[in-house]
Amino acid sequence: FTKMSNTTWSSVCDLHDHILSTISRLGFKNMTPVQVATIPVFMKNKDVCVEAVTGSGKTLAFVIPMLEMLMQCVGTLKKHQVGAVIVSPTRELASQIHEVIEEFLDDQHCPFTSTLLIGGTGDIENDTNDFVENGSNIIVGTPGRISFALEKCLMLRSGVRSLEVLILDEADRLLDLGFHRTLTTILGYLPKQRRTGLFSATQTTEVVQLMKAGMRNPVKISVKEKKQDLEFASLDQSGVTKTPSSLQNRYTTCRACEKFNSLMNFVTKKKDEKILLFFSTCACVEYFGRAIKDLLSNDFNILLLHGKIKKKRLEIFSKFRKLDRGILVCTDVMARGVDIPDVDWVLQFDPPSNASAFVHRCGRTARVGRQGNALIFLLESETSYVDFIEINQKAPMLEYQMDESSTIQWSSKLQELSIKDRAAMERGLRAFVSFIQSYAKHECNLIFRIKDLSFGELATSFGLLRIPKMPEIKLKAVTDFVAPVVDIDAIKYKDKAREKQRKLALKKKATEGEKPKFVSEKKKAWSGLKEKKELRRVKKEKRRMKKEKMTFDDDELEELRKDAQLVKKLKRKEITKAEYNESMDAAEGSLNKVL
Ligand SMILES: *[C@@H]1O[C@H](CO)[C@@H](O)[C@H](O)[C@H]1NC(C)=O
Ligand SMILES: *[C@@H]1O[C@H](CO)[C@@H](O)[C@H](O)[C@H]1NC(C)=O
Ligand SMILES: *[C@@H]1O[C@H](CO)[C@@H](O)[C@H](O)[C@H]1NC(C)=O
Repeated sequence: FTKMSNTTWSSVCDLHDHILSTISRLGFKNMTPVQVATIPVFMKNKDVCVEAVTGSGKTLAFVIPMLEMLMQCVGTLKKHQVGAVIVSPTRELASQIHEVIEEFLDDQHCPFTSTLLIGGTGDIENDTNDFVENGSNIIVGTPGRISFALEKCLMLRSGVRSLEVLILDEADRLLDLGFHRTLTTILGYLPKQRRTGLFSATQTTEVVQLMKAGMRNPVKISVKEKKQDLEFASLDQSGVTKTPSSLQNRYTTCRACEKFNSLMNFVTKKKDEKILLFFSTCACVEYFGRAIKDLLSNDFNILLLHGKIKKKRLEIFSKFRKLDRGILVCTDVMARGVDIPDVDWVLQFDPPSNASAFVHRCGRTARVGRQGNALIFLLESETSYVDFIEINQKAPMLEYQMDESSTIQWSSKLQELSIKDRAAMERGLRAFVSFIQSYAKHECNLIFRIKDLSFGELATSFGLLRIPKMPEIKLKAVTDFVAPVVDIDAIKYKDKAREKQRKLALKKKATEGEKPKFVSEKKKAWSGLKEKKELRRVKKEKRRMKKEKMTFDDDELEELRKDAQLVKKLKRKEITKAEYNESMDAAEGSLNKVL
């Protein structure tokens, strides 16, 4: 196989005119390497096992052969016969794939129906009722929902006997999330006579096992993006460059106190661009995202997305996809697999939680054939991360020259927002605490060392009015923070009802004999008694945090794991359906509470 850069669709595979015209309507001019390598093979009725990174165009690499295969059954595939099942690890990915498929369907040439089975949208009963009433030829969904629907719905079980194509997307991630047994269950319901396509960013032993269990003599395809060449080879190779080649990876460094200023000075010069802005925790997205919205909403379209936003997530996500320019402020939830067209910049305000997340995040930009840019904001103490990424992920990085002409003190504007609304102030404190906690448990703690952090400068950048008490900080005398002169207890909530409640609580406290504290106590040394009390409090807090450890990041993964566990338990009859119902509701409820 040789290098192919400008391969047009019609030159490589024999596709239906309807498919070709839809591809052209969607604006995909040339095929990407993974499409060139996969589509002809898959269409020749061979199983394929494809190693390809996010952003390589793999969705079309399976959607098109799948549709071509189904189009050979036009007229024979009945309403309740399922011709294709696509299993994807996350709701976003699944709904995006579903969206792409819908673009191709029409009554005349491609008269199929497709259904999306994902969590977070109505309950499982709806899924099965919908199938019974409306049928479906193509099912796209997350493993838990698909296996559950199969289990519950006899009609779906007999429907999948007509299955032609099974796609396992992001197989490595499906397995990472603990869906192994769920996948086995799904495979158990499907006929052996079928075509299977397995797509994965990495080739783990689990993926190989799945491949052995679910496929017949698959053709292995591995696409090296960097050299733009293709290989049919052993998948077990090293030295594959994982970032798409047209990506410019950059970094910039500054002092901790200047970090937010640096970000804002950069962003305000990019009014016409589409930007993904990553923070390490949900609390940081809530704080900085809302603040940026308050500060820039005249000039920018700003959207927020993180693991604790459940219901509206898809809506926010598709809204951003449709924007020409704007900023999506988000956490890791978005870090992998989701295809957002035309992102110009991926900004990482915080160090990514791990190096492979970094590369996946960068996979957000540099869609095939266009120039993408990624920029990470590092502190001076963190610059060895540049070398680490270069060596560890084989991704070269260049320094970005910031235009430092602007002198706007954005962090002071953050303080002003906090003074105007107690809720903003509290969000700031929560964000700061969550940031330090996530920093403290960073996987790469040789580079990101909590003892190198200047808490005072950091608090300045966060625009805090005071530094919160937390065990990590107590150890270090903070000298580099100048607290603004404000009476913190006098700061009101903008929300009238909330403020009223606060006033009431204060009054109650006063009448109970305990005067509300108007003086900050942080500078006073703790007496022995107080210290003991505080120690107990910290211990309690630590236990609580341990319990809630996962809520600050990786929320979604944790949620998916829980979903999977619940389904498993239900299957083993360890819980009843009612209990299952309840747990799913409880999960939503507790998240609402955090919000
Ligand atoms: C069947 O499809 C129609 C039209 O899309 C929809 O309104 C209806 O709710 C579906 N039936 C069920 C039981 O979901
Ligand atoms: C690193 O991140 C990836 C996802 O981006 C995850 O699958 C993997 O488990 C993480 N590694 C560690 C050690 O947390
Ligand atoms: C599960 O919840 C749905 C509504 O949320 C309800 O209609 C259904 O009856 C419940 N199933 C059981 C077994 O409780």
